[in-house]
Parts: sequence; C-alpha cells; structure tokens
Amino acid sequence: MTDTPTLKRLAAEHAVGFVQSGMTIGLGTGSTAIFATREIAARIHRGELGGITAIATSRPVHEEAVRLGIPMLGEDLPEALDLTIDGADEIDPALDVIKGGGGALLREKIVAQASARVILVADDSKLSPALGTKFVLPVEVLEYGWRSQARFIAGLGATVAPRMAADGGMARTDQGNLLLDCRFGVIADAPALAIELDARAGIVANGLFLGIATDVIVAGADGIRHLRRRQ
Ligand code: A5P
Repeated sequence: MTDTPTLKRLAAEHAVGFVQSGMTIGLGTGSTAIFATREIAARIHRGELGGITAIATSRPVHEEAVRLGIPMLGEDLPEALDLTIDGADEIDPALDVIKGGGGALLREKIVAQASARVILVADDSKLSPALGTKFVLPVEVLEYGWRSQARFIAGLGATVAPRMAADGGMARTDQGNLLLDCRFGVIADAPALAIELDARAGIVANGLFLGIATDVIVAGADGIRHLRRRQ
C-alpha cells in the first residue's frame, strides 16, 4: 500500500505538468503543495521551465521557494495569475473545498481568486461526500473582538475552538490574526454559511473555497485521478 506522503507527492508532481514556461503562478501552502513547489524548482533548474515567476500563499512557502531558487514576486500580487497549485483539507463532489488547516486561508483565497486556473492536489483521504464531514472550518478573525466572533459562529451552529500554537499561546496567521476552528458537522448549505461569515465585521476570511477550484488532482492506491469542475 502506498503511504500518504507518497500519494501527496504523486498528486503534486502530476499537477506541475500543467505549469508552462512564462507563467505567473501561485504556490500553495501545506505538506502536499510543497511537493509541487519543489518539483517546479527542479524543473526550472533542469531547464524544463523558463520565465516562471511565482507568489507564495504564506511566508514559510515564500522562504522555501526563495531557498529553492524560484523567481519570486514578494508580496506584490499582480492583477492576475495563470495558475495556482494548492492543497485542500476536504473536497466535496462539486470540487468545493475547506482549506486553512495550515492557517494560510486568507492569502490562499486571495491568490486563488486571482488565478485563471486553480489546481488542488490531495491524497484521496481528503475526498468527502459533504463539507464538514471530516474537517473543521477554519475562520480567521481580527484579535479585536474575537470572542464576539466566536459567539456569533457558535450561534450559527458550530462548536468553536481558538487554534493554539505549539508554545501554548494562540496561533497567529501571517497577518497577525487569530484562527477559530469551527466544527459544524455536515454543512448543509455552504454558500449560505459563506455569505453569513463574509458579512460579519471582524471575520477576515473563512475556509470555504466555493466555486474556486477548477481542477483537483487526487492520488490514491489505484492511481491518479484528474477531476474537473463542471462548467
Ligand atoms: C493551508 O492553510 C491549507 O489550506 C492547506 O492547503 C491544507 O491544510 C492542506 O494541507 P496538507 O497538504 O498538509 O494536507
């Protein structure tokens, strides 16, 4: 049986096949997307990809990409990107997803929404019949008033837990904000929930990525599948 890190690597490397020379690309965050970043760097160094510029969805990925020698744009996101490769935490049959397990959901959403094509890469444990079945919904909130956001989200039906860092303090995003992990159980109406969360002052981003992924590359014991969003 193929182990999970290998499945993640196979999915990510397959996705890199869609990167073409001259593209401006987004580099995702997480243990799957990092395999894509490494493969892009390897293809640049082998001369198989030229004229690539990239922007990262988190500071650690930016630092790793610089270390690998990928030409990076810093934090100056251009008007549009050709392609982004990123990971996912839970993927439903319509290719709507939950993201943010790594805490990078705001930058990931900004980069994805600026991208003509968004390819998500995952092992098949991420596939789910309905969002919320397998994963909590991460929500990024300003520190100012965070308890009132937690109460608001609890009022929408979730059990809410602030995410903690390894040092025992509250986890912080790249923006210095806090993260609330919100357990809704199966989310019956994700678009309606996204509208409620987006409308609340103090909530900076939520992990519902609806209608954003154009493709999902998923690796499992029986091989690699390429799922495409229905138009
Ligand atoms: C980062 O905030 C997330 O959206 C990641 O893309 C997601 O958690 C997937 O992570 P893994 O590839 O490590 O499972």
